Amino acid sequence: MNTILLGAQWGDEGKGKVVDHLSETADLVVRFQGGNNAGHSLWVGGKKTVLHLIPSGILHPHTICIIGDGVVLDPSVFIREITELQAANVFKVASERIKLSERTHLILPLHSALDVAREKKASGTKGHIGTTGRGIGPAYETKAQRKGVRVADLFLSRPQLLDKIETLFSGFQFAFAPLELAEIKEKTLKDIDYWKKIFAPMVIDTTTYLHAATKAGKKILFEGAQGVMLDMDHGTYPYVTSSSTVGPSAGIGGGYPAAIKGARTLGIAKAYITRVGSGPVVTEMLGKHVPGEVELGESIRKVGQEFGATTGRPRRIGWQDLVALKYAVQVAGIDELAIMKGDVLCGMGDFRVCVQYKKPDGSPWDHFPPCVEDLEVAIPVYESVKGWTEATPENADYEAYLKKIEKFVGVPVCYVGFGPERHQMAVRK
Ligand code: GDP
Ligand code: IMO
Ligand code: MG
Repeated sequence: MNTILLGAQWGDEGKGKVVDHLSETADLVVRFQGGNNAGHSLWVGGKKTVLHLIPSGILHPHTICIIGDGVVLDPSVFIREITELQAANVFKVASERIKLSERTHLILPLHSALDVAREKKASGTKGHIGTTGRGIGPAYETKAQRKGVRVADLFLSRPQLLDKIETLFSGFQFAFAPLELAEIKEKTLKDIDYWKKIFAPMVIDTTTYLHAATKAGKKILFEGAQGVMLDMDHGTYPYVTSSSTVGPSAGIGGGYPAAIKGARTLGIAKAYITRVGSGPVVTEMLGKHVPGEVELGESIRKVGQEFGATTGRPRRIGWQDLVALKYAVQVAGIDELAIMKGDVLCGMGDFRVCVQYKKPDGSPWDHFPPCVEDLEVAIPVYESVKGWTEATPENADYEAYLKKIEKFVGVPVCYVGFGPERHQMAVRK
């Protein structure tokens, strides 16, 4: 059976670790959305690897790792990541392990420059999304505008490719001074032949490739990036990323929708909440609702090393939010959950879970609020759970916490992470 793995919160739930774990029994690992805004960390034998684009199954030598159609790919970051993995002896010949869809859109220097410039301009205002500054939003925008440049375009004749680049740049005269735009274009053109040389042996038509793999009985693991609450349609819009992070997106973005028929969808969540960037988190430990929560949040950040794997920004911390998790399970089609990082809370005393949002007038929300204006003033209703000293299913207190999650959200918790290392994960069901 194929598996779709998703973040069930606001990203950084520990997806990389679980993909690494499940890759042992997968043949192909496919990224289907997002780009190098992702930072997926793997710890194997005390050695840390952080992957931004290459699927987290790469450390298992038997896997083929695919960048799907729905990803936006920054060529320089991709090539740097390949070089680092080669230096770490993960593989010798990249094309034997990594395949790249010919339909994948490219993040060009124009996109990243625009992302950074916009965020700088919006600093201190509501318009500041707190993006990773990697050009993700602008790349998906030009894709939707039908002006994007794709991997396959690099292999067109030079005049045809230049025509596409001209079309892309023509939409950006408003954003940059002429000299600056000319510099950005020069930077892009300079590297194209190098990118082509590296990409050429990796480029595939994902539909043909995954169709053949499916016929041959290969098992596919789809690796989501970000999380359901950052989904462009279903997340806390506008403080979201620019791609679709829910289960069905794996079919479209992977390039072979038939591969997700009958697949199981596994949602990854932390035992608590984190978020980087702007936007409301109802259960954030800001000192508004529970005495001592600010100090607890600081301890969790320190013990859990909650700093962005991509940008190094401190992650915001919150109590477990079962209202958001239940919504994520329902909207993303999650069948099973993995709960990670319960070990971080060991010995920190009783914990809280949010079981309802209330409006300022005291009446309850009967569904997840669509507007951030409502989320900003929503009042969390908490229940207390007994603290635990060990975050494994053998510990009765932790098991009670897991059962509470299952009962509330309606799907089983099948995996439990209790440390960053590959082997620190228990299969519960
Ligand atoms: P991702 O983006 O979802 O792959 O998550 P990140 O890699 O950005 O952040 C998760 C962090 O938690 C990484 O540093 C992981 O090594 C670490 N991690 C993952 N699972 C566990 C766990 O169960 N316990 C602990 N203590 N750390 C974990
Ligand atoms: P992984 O895969 C956590 C957040 C950014 C910002 C918003 C939009 O490691 O879980 P973007 O650069 O995508 O336009 O930023 O989304 N964000 C993430 N937060 N983990 C991620 O990826 C994220 N990718 C984007 O912080 O709030
Ligand atoms: Mg991450």
